[in-house]
Amino acid sequence: MASFIWKGQICDSQDRNTLRVRENHYLVCVEDRCMGVFPTLPEQYRALPLEDMGDRLIIPGMTDLHIHAPQFSFRGLGMDMELLDWLNTHTFPEESKYRDLDYARRAYSQFTAHLRRSETTRACVFATVHVPATTLLMELLEESGLVSYVGKVNMNRNGPLYLIEPSTIASVRETRRWLEDTAGRFARTKPILTPRFIPSCTDDLLYRLADLRAEFGVPVQSHLSENLGEIAWVRELVPTAQNYGDAYRKFGLLGGETPCIMAHCVYSDEAEMELLRDGGVFIAHSPESNMNIASGVAPVNRFLDLGIPTGLATDVAGGSHESLFRAMTHAIQASKLRWRLLDQSVPPLTFDTAFYLATRGGGAFFGDVGAFDPGFALDALVLDDGNLDHPQPLSVRERLERAAYLGDERNIYAKVVNGLRLF
Ligand code: GUN
Ligand code: FE
Repeated sequence: MASFIWKGQICDSQDRNTLRVRENHYLVCVEDRCMGVFPTLPEQYRALPLEDMGDRLIIPGMTDLHIHAPQFSFRGLGMDMELLDWLNTHTFPEESKYRDLDYARRAYSQFTAHLRRSETTRACVFATVHVPATTLLMELLEESGLVSYVGKVNMNRNGPLYLIEPSTIASVRETRRWLEDTAGRFARTKPILTPRFIPSCTDDLLYRLADLRAEFGVPVQSHLSENLGEIAWVRELVPTAQNYGDAYRKFGLLGGETPCIMAHCVYSDEAEMELLRDGGVFIAHSPESNMNIASGVAPVNRFLDLGIPTGLATDVAGGSHESLFRAMTHAIQASKLRWRLLDQSVPPLTFDTAFYLATRGGGAFFGDVGAFDPGFALDALVLDDGNLDHPQPLSVRERLERAAYLGDERNIYAKVVNGLRLF
């Protein structure tokens, strides 16, 4: 961790509707904290090392609220199926390979290297059911300098015998062993409880996971209301629940004492959205995944109107790429089709709102993260868009918009996570 000053074209999100641009300003980092953005350098910081980024863009780091590390190996493959067939055909066979620690090391090293080079500074990650491979992934992410929550997945039903855990007792025992080993071990990498989704976990396992949640004080992540077939199945599996979200709530895994992320929420109705809002649940909006496996498009502006905390996610390998710039673009495009074809009551996303989701929106899961407000954790990227040539003059804002639409991680010139410079 270092204290430093960067000068450049500084852009961050002020609120859901407002991208803030401060040209030729100074960004001050002391230890891991942002001291603010200044037009002239305050006297007390004059002794800190200053790097002039020239005309480059300086933006906050981005948060990926939902990504599957073991699925990175088959990103961009097998996207012509819907969720349940896609899981059985592509996902479960691949995830079973992580029983082999050598395979896990190769695959997770590639995943971590890509994530380190990307716009992502913080992530909430699914691993697999395997404890040794999940712990290895945590070690690799810790070494990378990124900040993350990582989940050992729980699944003890409705999956192939070569992957699922043999019993509730075995699943709970392995989860406890993993939590005891990793809960206090890393500076940047923390465990998060990760029941795959309701169809993968028996009722008694879900109750026992809620007990572990309380005992270890860890957050929870899962999938919610992603696909119509899945939702119908959950209705059969938990007939007493008012809706899918209410099923998680009944088991003690939605709302409550520790934070919670639910991915997708494409089909959440008003009652389910109310449950999410009242529980302070974060929605991980995963637009590319929702298109690739034909799930649908979530009403993101409705989530925001209701005050449900919402961020962006790549959901690799439902999504094909780890880039949150691409996720921003997909979110805007999907929202326009939803508005045009389905529902004019929810307006499409603007660039400002997509940028908010990728930075401040998702960052809030990690605390004061995702903007250059004084006191926020200092996560930042420097973008060099010099290769995106243009004959006409462009404003800083236009340059940022284009850099996002043309998203290319090779244009990330520097990256700082929680005050630590990665490159
Ligand atoms: N629902 C349960 N498991 C998964 C998964 O791996 N990916 C997605 N997109 N949805 C899921
Ligand atoms: Fe997912």
